Parts: sequence; structure tokens; C-alpha cells
Amino acid sequence: MSQQSWEELYSIALEWTKEAGTYIREKMKNTYGVSSKANQNDLVTDVDRDVEELFKKKLKECFPDHRLMGEEGSAELVNDLKGVIWILDPIDGTVNFVHQETFFAVSLGVYLNGVGMIGIVYDVMNDEMFSALKGQGAVVNGTKLARLGEVHLNEAIISMNAGWILKDRRLEYFVNESRGIRSYGSAALEIAYVASGRLDAYISFALSPWDIAGGVVLLSEVGGIATNYEGNELSYLEKDTFIAANPFIHEEIIRHVHHKS
Ligand code: IPD
Ligand code: CA
Ligand code: CA
Ligand code: CA
Repeated sequence: MSQQSWEELYSIALEWTKEAGTYIREKMKNTYGVSSKANQNDLVTDVDRDVEELFKKKLKECFPDHRLMGEEGSAELVNDLKGVIWILDPIDGTVNFVHQETFFAVSLGVYLNGVGMIGIVYDVMNDEMFSALKGQGAVVNGTKLARLGEVHLNEAIISMNAGWILKDRRLEYFVNESRGIRSYGSAALEIAYVASGRLDAYISFALSPWDIAGGVVLLSEVGGIATNYEGNELSYLEKDTFIAANPFIHEEIIRHVHHKS
């Protein structure tokens, strides 16, 4: 595809994401079905499924040769990264969506042969749209995000889930050495926050491709770094450990989480 057509695709992806946000806000006014998947932390609602369906229908109609890798079912059909793949989390932060009715996002990454071309993370209730087209920088509601500047761990705000700290005591290092720890419950938004400098790093023990695909494109456009705990490239085909960080502290984080004893 030419640069011109990527720009077109970018504006279509933004339009569809906004449409999904409007749909979600509307559905929240009434009751909707909620069920749990693997465990009590893992919820899915009719709204998650509807949003995935919305993208599925639109893609079939407008770009039948593009594939959809969505959390709520369509990912099962995708086993390689060839061609154009829309990696979608219809609602990232479903527990927040159900319990808090805020702080959740639609997360979308459009990848070409495994390379992130478009990244979108839409905070539906705050109407904050983080987005990027590869090579053109990242924006939030149209305002350009600055490249990430120098930061030291003792002045860094790091986001991670309390459960991971209990599971992996090495993470206590960051509790002691950073300026503060936060935990928001939406991986996609937390990566977007690292890209916008509101956080300096986000660390997770296990994330899926749809949690990270949108955010990673934003992050690389501002000079941030995303890898797994070993410092290796992310695969986008399976769950992995995850670090999104300001480039000045990424290496130090790896030193403290990378172990294979
Ligand atoms: C979850 C959220 C959460 C993270 C979990 C994810 P979901 O996504 O991003 O913050 O800790 O690992 O699975 O299930 O709400 O889309
Ligand atoms: Ca889920
Ligand atoms: Ca998710
Ligand atoms: Ca989800």
C-alpha cells in the first residue's frame, strides 16, 4: 500500500474507533450481559462482543483481504502475521467498564507483515484519542506528543498490578526506588500514558497481542521502548511478559526483571 492509502486507512480506523466509542457510551445507559471467562478477574460483556462484531462487519465490507485479530473470538483464526492485520481489543479494561464505568479503552493496532503502521487507544469516557501513523509522530486529540525526555528511576512513576508484585518479588525494587507506583487496570491506556509522559514505565507479567498492539505504535513514535522481560521484540502471536518504558530507564528495568534461574 502507498503512503497515501495508509493515511486513508488511518482516518478510517479513527472514524470506526470513534463510532465504537459512541456505541459503547450508548449501550452503557441500559443493562447488558456480563459473564466471566477463565476466572473472576476476566470478564466479558455483550458490548465487548458487539464492538468486535462491528469491526468484523466493516472489514468484510471495505477491506475483505485484511484480517481481524480480536480478543473476543476472531484471534483464534489468526496464526501468522502476513498481510494487513487489525489487532483489536474491543474493550481493554472490562473490569473497569463493568465496575467503574470509566477508564477503559478501545485499542487497535493495524499491522503490515508484523510491523505496526497504525496505533489507536481511545479512552471512551474521557473522549481522549491517542493515535499514531508510523513515521508521523503520535497525537492525543490532534495535539502532537513530545518525544520522551530523560528521566531517572527515582523520579519515575511506574504502573504495575499489585498481583504481579506478590507473584514476583523482584518488582518490589521499583516500589522502593521509583517516585510512585500506580495501577489503572487498562494495559492499553497505561501504554498510552507512557507514550504521553504521564507514566514513565508500565510493567506486566502477561499480556496478549490485542492489549499492546495499539499502544506500542504510539510509544515507538515518541522514542519509547516496548519489549518483553528479556528485552526481546514482542511476538504479537502469543501472550508474553511486557515492559513499556521511557528509553532512559528501559535498560535498568530489564536488569531487574530479567532472570532465568
Ligand atoms: C486486561 C487489562 C488489565 C490487564 C490484563 C488484561 P481486558 O484486559 O488490560 O489491565 O492487567 O492483563 O487482560 O481483559 O480488560 O481486555
Ligand atoms: Ca479480557
Ligand atoms: Ca485487554
Ligand atoms: Ca478486552
